[in-house]
Amino acid sequence: MDYRYQQLEQYLLKGIQTQRWRSGERLPSIRQLCLDHQVSKATAIHALQRLEAQGLLEARPKAGYFVTYQFKAATGGGLRRSVDPPRLVTETDLLLDIMRRSAAFDLLPGAATSPTPPGIVAMNRSIARSLRRQEGAGFQYYDEPAGDRTLREQLALHYARRGWQPEPDQFCITTGCQNALFLALLASCQKGDVVAVETPGFYGVLQLLQQLELKVLEVPASPETGIDVDLLQNVLSCWPVRACIVSPAFATPGGAVMPLPAKQKLLALAKRFDLVVIEDDIYADTAFNHPPEPLKALDTDDRVILCSSFSKSVSRDIRLGWISGGRWQERILYLKLVTQLAGSRYLQQGFADFMAEGHFVSHLRRQRNQLRENRDCLLAVLHQWEMPVKVSAPAGGLAVWVELPESIDTLKSYRAALPDNIVLTPGSLFSVSGQFNHCLRISFAHRWDEKRFEALNRLPKILMNA
Ligand SMILES: Cc1ncc(COP(=O)(O)O)c(C=O)c1O
Repeated sequence: MDYRYQQLEQYLLKGIQTQRWRSGERLPSIRQLCLDHQVSKATAIHALQRLEAQGLLEARPKAGYFVTYQFKAATGGGLRRSVDPPRLVTETDLLLDIMRRSAAFDLLPGAATSPTPPGIVAMNRSIARSLRRQEGAGFQYYDEPAGDRTLREQLALHYARRGWQPEPDQFCITTGCQNALFLALLASCQKGDVVAVETPGFYGVLQLLQQLELKVLEVPASPETGIDVDLLQNVLSCWPVRACIVSPAFATPGGAVMPLPAKQKLLALAKRFDLVVIEDDIYADTAFNHPPEPLKALDTDDRVILCSSFSKSVSRDIRLGWISGGRWQERILYLKLVTQLAGSRYLQQGFADFMAEGHFVSHLRRQRNQLRENRDCLLAVLHQWEMPVKVSAPAGGLAVWVELPESIDTLKSYRAALPDNIVLTPGSLFSVSGQFNHCLRISFAHRWDEKRFEALNRLPKILMNA
């Protein structure tokens, strides 16, 4: 005999499967469920939380439980199951023109008119205070290579909330996450080494591989669950791979989250094949619910190098990131010293104050509600498109991945949209293989004000006619 919560869970599950409650729709309130099913509030919440843990529902503060957005029917093709041999990345693979336009986190750059968010005002105030505090001869000295201790202490506290309890000395402050990824590769790899990456994946990594003359091995990644670890296992038996770069929490471009068993398998493979694992954790703090624990929290072997920054969670302009290098930490500290000597202390101390005073956490809370609203608006529009599309529905990150009919070339569409100041992010940017030319990343980092909304609604025509 099932418990009451299991009966209710089954009832709700069936309702979702039979589309009684459709993708994105709100479920009856807890109060209503209690009345209809004669169960206690605790029982109803238990059933809902179990469905939430399976990724079928999303809890939204003060609004209730909603059916998680589902993928639309595939247009064919789907996830490739083969891997090309390792190769060097060449200039022509990289779409520098698009990168120079900041690779479009805004469909309509310059349209932003919204007031500065309170979190950014608070951050600016903390930094300004820190600058005013600089007295004496501090300006004549460099910061230590690891970076300001107060900021590292705040980072340690911040990660403790996500199930990893590092010491402040395990961090080195960097100039953003790209700089952290650069130090991670420089410290752990040598020219000609093979590096496995998610595909589609972050173009910034491809640029780094090119500069460091490392070979790329693109392993298919799903927009829902990230890198295919079974396939990774197969390729590890074929080629001598030195490192693997993954983004387990809300990977760009689709917002994938690696399930716990996949993370465990990746670490087991890393141990067996002696891999360096570079974890790009940059999107974790954009989670709409609680962010998943970092891969680093499961790393008993000290072979995960965690890289991240405040670029996606607070400000791209602040250029503050960090790296926790495991067994490569000493070398990373040395390489930071060689490449940049030190960072700015007043900036780090100001940001540490911003965190210590609780403004960072309040900012994340406000921002995640806004991002969820932006995502919902975007998904609602995409689900109305007449052409068959497959859309990811992330519970964090800043963008969705859109697979269009294979006849559409989004690089052509990118060029066709530029005269109207619409900047698309074509799929070809996210791989060197050319297999994503019919795909598009669309960001929801910005509010859909009237002008952006209008640009979004013009996309189908631009895509079809290019
Ligand atoms: C996955 C990923 N990693 C790293 C970066 C670079 O971050 P930062 O601005 O902190 O250098 C980005 C920026 O787009 C990114 O999307």
